[in-house]
Amino acid sequence: MQQVKGVIARGKGAPVELVTVNVPDPGPGEAVVAIQACGVCHTDLHYREGGIGDDYPYLLGHEAAGIVESVGPEVHDLAPGDFVVLNWRAVCGACRACRRGRPWYCFATHNAKQKMTLTDGTELSPALGIGAFIDKTLVAAGQCTKVDPAARPAAAGLLGCGVMAGLGAALNTGNVGRGDSVAVIGCGGVGSAAIAGARLAGANRIIAVDLDDRKLNKAKELGATHTVNSKQSDPVEAIQQLTDGFGADVVIDAVGRPETWKQAFYGRDLAGTVVLVGVPTPEMQLELPLLDVFGRGGSLKSSWYGDCLPSRDFPMLIDLYLQGRLPLDAFVTEEIGIDGVEAAFDKMHGGDVLRSVVVF
Ligand SMILES: NC(=O)c1ccc[n+]([C@@H]2O[C@H](COP(=O)([O-])OP(=O)(O)OC[C@H]3O[C@@H](n4cnc5c(N)ncnc54)[C@H](O)[C@@H]3O)[C@@H](O)[C@H]2O)c1
Ligand SMILES: [Zn+2]
Ligand SMILES: [Zn+2]
Repeated sequence: MQQVKGVIARGKGAPVELVTVNVPDPGPGEAVVAIQACGVCHTDLHYREGGIGDDYPYLLGHEAAGIVESVGPEVHDLAPGDFVVLNWRAVCGACRACRRGRPWYCFATHNAKQKMTLTDGTELSPALGIGAFIDKTLVAAGQCTKVDPAARPAAAGLLGCGVMAGLGAALNTGNVGRGDSVAVIGCGGVGSAAIAGARLAGANRIIAVDLDDRKLNKAKELGATHTVNSKQSDPVEAIQQLTDGFGADVVIDAVGRPETWKQAFYGRDLAGTVVLVGVPTPEMQLELPLLDVFGRGGSLKSSWYGDCLPSRDFPMLIDLYLQGRLPLDAFVTEEIGIDGVEAAFDKMHGGDVLRSVVVF
């Protein structure tokens, strides 16, 4: 066991605290990872605000890269010194989804079995089964994905959640292909990554939609060919105009509200694809003519973690990054210290950042 500093949310809405955490030595199938960088994601704020559950105290942080410090028994493909990106999809290999060859839908993903605790023994709930605003964290070995150590940790770690969700919404769920037209509604970290993913896939028209011109300017840097400020113009009409009157082949809703989902639905060409990657809240309802759902054909999908398979996607995306084909550095707006998480939440609200990243 060792004692390190970590950032917890002790109760609903209370400011986060930097406290001492007891980290057990790794047991069977587990690893301890020295964190080098961890992005601040909207989901951390959801945890703090009680939007995900009531299992306080939460150990926050989950978009992280680091170096494996030690591994427990029965860990064969990971060793101290390995550079890894942490993931929240350590697939089991045995559930129905895994056995059918669709491990990205795994129903029984692995987390560490032992608990990290406060010094008084209170067990912590790690965010998304990771908990990485901490010097060292305990995870299941399968949550560690080895990637090329030449990558900058602050950029690589972002693949661990939001950036992967956006890239995968375009590449995996939306199956964007060469010559497709794509519209992305909401250009925060996730939507911007969907834009970068659409460019990587060879889309030739990429329309960024947001309410905030700062986000639209950034979207252009990442590959948007056109931008629409939906405060100023109707996004459905604008998307249609920019696609010769048809609508886009793939529309990605990276906001997750009934009105943005409807914009995606009607901004899409006949037989096109809608991808919902933004996360709605429990009270949100959707109403629309069922005949439109039938008549317009195509597919309506949602995307959890970009339907990624970390072992397949992380090393490949890091290689593309190192070759200069995926601008992961552009998502790192600022590097902050471990005491800067609360301020980073404020900046998130202000719309000033794609990602603040805690570096250790
Ligand atoms: N599906 C997944 O696996 C997954 C993973 C991570 C995050 N998410 C979710 O993705 C969503 C986006 O996350 P983020 O980190 O990019 O958040 P963010 O706050 O950085 O970005 C949201 C963007 O949407 C814009 N926006 C808000 N309302 C809008 C509207 N009505 N029309 C157009 N644009 C609008 C904002 O201006 C902002 O640029 C969140 O709901 C988050 O929880 C999903
Ligand atoms: Zn499984
Ligand atoms: Zn996240």
